Amino acid sequence: MAQTLTISRPDDWHLHLRDGDMLRAVLPETYRDFARALIMPNLVPPITTAQEARDYKDRINALLPEGSSFEPRMTLYLTENTVPSDVRHAHENDVIQAVKLYPAGATTNSASGVTNFERITETLETMADIGCPLCVHGEVTDPDIDIFDREAVFIERVLQPIKSQHPKLNIVMEHITTQDAVDFVAQCDDSVGATITMHHLFINRNHILAGGIRPHYYCLPVAKREEHRQALRKAATSGNRKFFLGTDSAPHLDSLKEQACGCAGCFTATNTMPLVAQVFDEEGALDRLEAFTSLNGAAFYKVPKNRETLTLERSEHPVAFPKSIESATGPVTVFDPGQDIYWRVAREKQQ
Ligand code: NCD
Ligand code: ZN
Repeated sequence: MAQTLTISRPDDWHLHLRDGDMLRAVLPETYRDFARALIMPNLVPPITTAQEARDYKDRINALLPEGSSFEPRMTLYLTENTVPSDVRHAHENDVIQAVKLYPAGATTNSASGVTNFERITETLETMADIGCPLCVHGEVTDPDIDIFDREAVFIERVLQPIKSQHPKLNIVMEHITTQDAVDFVAQCDDSVGATITMHHLFINRNHILAGGIRPHYYCLPVAKREEHRQALRKAATSGNRKFFLGTDSAPHLDSLKEQACGCAGCFTATNTMPLVAQVFDEEGALDRLEAFTSLNGAAFYKVPKNRETLTLERSEHPVAFPKSIESATGPVTVFDPGQDIYWRVAREKQQ
C-alpha cells in the first residue's frame, strides 16, 4: 500500500498567469492542484487600477472549467502614481487581496515600479490603516550592488525603513532566497511574513552556472549559495506560521529563455506539489507540509482554510513529470529538479 498524505487543498500565494494564449496554456497547471492563487499584476501594461484587476480576474475565470472552485485573488501593481483612495476602495470591495511593490527595473515587466520610495508613503499609510497587505519584490536595483547581494541590501535599505515607518503594515517578503531574509522575517512581529518558492528549495547557484549555463534555472531573485538553500529548507519545513508557499511560477516561451539575453522566471506550476512533498519527506517534516502549503498563508491573508483536500502519494519508483507544456506560440519548459522524485498527486481514477 503506497504511503498517502491528505492535506487541506493548497494555495499559491505568488503566481504569474500572464494573459491570452499563455494564460490559457498555464491556468490548468494551477487549478489542478490549488484552491486559490495570488495573481501577480506584472502584465504589459501592468494592472494598476481596480477596474483592470476586475477585468483580468474575469478573463481568468472565463477559462475555468464548469464546476471549478479555483479562485484567483488579485493584486494591484504599486506605482508612484497610485491613488491611495483607489487602493482603499479596491480592498474594501474585495477586488484585491494585496498590493505588489516592484522596485523599478528589478525583474520581468517591472519598468513601471517604484524608484522613489517616499512617493508611496501615503499609499502605504492607507494600506496599514485598512489592513491591505503589501507584497514586496525584495531586491535593490542599484547596478553597483552585486546581484547576489541585492536581497540582503534591500532589507537594510528599503524594508527596514518601511517597517519602522509603518509598523502596522502587513508585509510579505516574496520569494525569499537568503538566510538574511529568513532571519529578518523571523525576528519581525506577526505583521511580516514571507513566501518561499519550490524551486529555491532545490537549486543553488551552481545549478545555474556550473558545467554549462542553464537558462531554465534562471529566475529573480537568483538562487544563492547552498547555505542559503539550506536556510530556506529549514524555514519552510519549520512549521513557523510566517513562511508559506508562493510558487512564483513564471512562464516564458522557451524561445525567450534560451537566447543570448534570456528572461528570468521558472515555470513550476505543473509539479510544485509533488516536489514540495519530496522536500518535506527528505527533511522528515511531512507532518508540517500542510502548514506550509495550505494553512499559514491563509491565516496571514485572513481567508478561511480550504475545505477541499488534496492527496499526495509516495510511489516506489521515481515519478516522471511532463518536460514541457504547449502554448499556442510554443513550448514552455517545466522545472526539472534534477533528482528522483517519489511523490505525485493522487488523481481520481479515470473511468
Ligand atoms: C517573474 C516574471 O517572469 O514575471 N520572474 C522571475 O524571475 N521570478 C517576475 C518576478 O516575480 O520577479
Ligand atoms: Zn514573481
